[in-house]
Amino acid sequence: MLSVLECMNCHRQYPANQVIYTCETCGGLLDLKHDMDWLRRTVTRELFDSRLGTLDFPYNSGVWRYKEMIYPDVDPAQIVSRPEGNTNLYPAPRLAQWAGVDKLYLKHEGENPTGSFKDRGMTGGLTQARVLGMKRVACASTGNTSASLAAYAAWSGIQGIVLFQNKQIALGKLAQAVAYGATCIRIAADFDRNLQLVRDISEKLDIYVLNSVNPFRLEGQKSIMIETIQQLRWRVPDWIVVPGGNLGNSSAFGKGLREMYEIGLIDRLPSLAVIQAEGANPLYRAYQTGFEKFEAVEADTVATAIKIGNPVNYPKAVRAIQWTEGVVEQVTDQQIMDAKALIDAQGIGCEPASACSLAGVKKLVESGVIKPHETVVGILTGHVLKDPDATIAYHEGLLDNIESAYPNRVFAAAPTVESLSEILSDSTLTLV
Ligand code: F0G
Repeated sequence: MLSVLECMNCHRQYPANQVIYTCETCGGLLDLKHDMDWLRRTVTRELFDSRLGTLDFPYNSGVWRYKEMIYPDVDPAQIVSRPEGNTNLYPAPRLAQWAGVDKLYLKHEGENPTGSFKDRGMTGGLTQARVLGMKRVACASTGNTSASLAAYAAWSGIQGIVLFQNKQIALGKLAQAVAYGATCIRIAADFDRNLQLVRDISEKLDIYVLNSVNPFRLEGQKSIMIETIQQLRWRVPDWIVVPGGNLGNSSAFGKGLREMYEIGLIDRLPSLAVIQAEGANPLYRAYQTGFEKFEAVEADTVATAIKIGNPVNYPKAVRAIQWTEGVVEQVTDQQIMDAKALIDAQGIGCEPASACSLAGVKKLVESGVIKPHETVVGILTGHVLKDPDATIAYHEGLLDNIESAYPNRVFAAAPTVESLSEILSDSTLTLV
């Protein structure tokens, strides 16, 4: 076997085909650990480049193009793929200017089949559910994980179960989970409590957990880094900037980048900047103590996707920040929504949590952490249609405690040429 599950703390190993999420000895999180010597011998830039544009399953997926690095042992017949990935990397010169850097790219993970990066994790998770012969899969979710789980479970003929908090679920996400036919349960509890509940019931009822505590999810999400750097013709950017909630992406990015470096796909590591909402900032607070102290918080933010106070992947995220000499920053809801309005107005669009990336870049440039000449890649995690309520409320000036700096109000006209003329001779649109 080319991969085993290994505890990140005590390094105890388990076979990859065991249903297990944390170490039986010390409770540590598990990694899917690959045979690095084999990877060094097998993987080249040319191998991955030769699969670009292929129509052949599974290499037509932006996750499984890198199969050797994701899950080398798996039989392709078991792979559950839509296919996902192959998302655009947009140069964003006007936003770069606004944020104060010369070169900014936005990697749009909202372009995945269900509109968020979660699909890259779910293809790994549902594939493993199939390998293990599981009949049911479940997650707690702020919305996107549930939409993705629901779709991938339906696609593979496995029952999907999703637990939501009973308020503040973005409409687009709830609609997806319902439409794709998952068993949807609303609970009077926040995300953190729901995640604990999923872990408890899954053990009892033989259900496979597909939150990002599942190492196979993180293997899939790793591909965001491989694909981004391949799109940059294997040139490594200086910074990768990503929103942080349950810290699955941050963890996956750290592992992926380190593995790419170890096997010689890249010759240096970019630094990871994890951006949290000020109202959901446990990683940021811990970072302020040099990661000496971690305390969960009660989370509250307009970016409901990252309304998480006790991130399960905290230790892996710390490791990723240390490996890449990265940083953690926080941004306000005001900064998030203004950055979102600017990303949207480029014609790119994203959901609120995703805009942490751009808001974070600007703040890190202002504080001198990111230098103007450095190349930055911001990750947009979710599609603009995920949370239409937040978008409309911002532009109508209806969000609590947020001043809309870049409003695009909807006009009302009488059905006459005069009325339309009056509006159109008045309106000017000057954004960035
Ligand atoms: N952005 C979006 C759009 C998300 O949906 C999430 C997480 C994140 C960022 C944070 O990513 O957890 O890897 O740090 N959403 C999860 C969910 C928690 O349930 O959909 P992370």
